[in-house]
Amino acid sequence: MIQNYDAVIFDLDGVLVSTDECHYQAWKCLADRENIPFDRKVNERLRGVSRMESLEIILERAAKQYTPTEKVRMAEYKNQIYREKIEGLTPSDLLPGVALFLRYLREQGKRIAVGSSSKNTGRILEKIGLDKTFDAVADGNDITKSKPDPEVFLVAAKKLGLPSARCIVVEDAFSGIEAGKAAGMTTVGVGSAGQCPSADYRLVDLADERLYQLF
Ligand code: BG6
Ligand code: MG
Repeated sequence: MIQNYDAVIFDLDGVLVSTDECHYQAWKCLADRENIPFDRKVNERLRGVSRMESLEIILERAAKQYTPTEKVRMAEYKNQIYREKIEGLTPSDLLPGVALFLRYLREQGKRIAVGSSSKNTGRILEKIGLDKTFDAVADGNDITKSKPDPEVFLVAAKKLGLPSARCIVVEDAFSGIEAGKAAGMTTVGVGSAGQCPSADYRLVDLADERLYQLF
């Protein structure tokens, strides 16, 4: 295995913390209110995708058309529910292996960054006790195109001052794996993306010991 990487860029939701479930629950509240069929299969398509693009995917099954103003209100409603949920997060919501792997990377002198489509990244990092941990954070507030566009990872690498070839991306979304590849980075799929055929490495989660062999 290549052992030459200088940095790891982590997706947030579903990689560092279990907020992917909070997103699902919040969208489910909105979909139920509007009588739109929505299940975990559709939810898989929302991973890595921006809030408004996620809403458009959910509305594919809606029986009526919504105006742009109604759509903005619906996204705000979902985000309000989501914000209430993330206020309950604590460091115990870190996903398996995260704390140990971050410490290991630090000990190895590697740089670490977050590359997330979420505009709630800052608040989540505070709640899980990782707001002072990363060398760089690129999030939904820094970008105009969400995954699978590579923008968020390119912004993260720029903030780290490193070329793409020196960076590994860790993702739970198929769209995130595509974004990492489009950025010219090596990709590690975990969770749902642990099944992604185009990921360079496929793992269950960050507790998988094979991850350590990359450094
Ligand atoms: C991504 C999630 O990390 O952030 C998506 O995987 C979500 O499901 C996107 O839609 C945007 O999040 P937010 O917090 O800005 O609504
Ligand atoms: Mg994710």
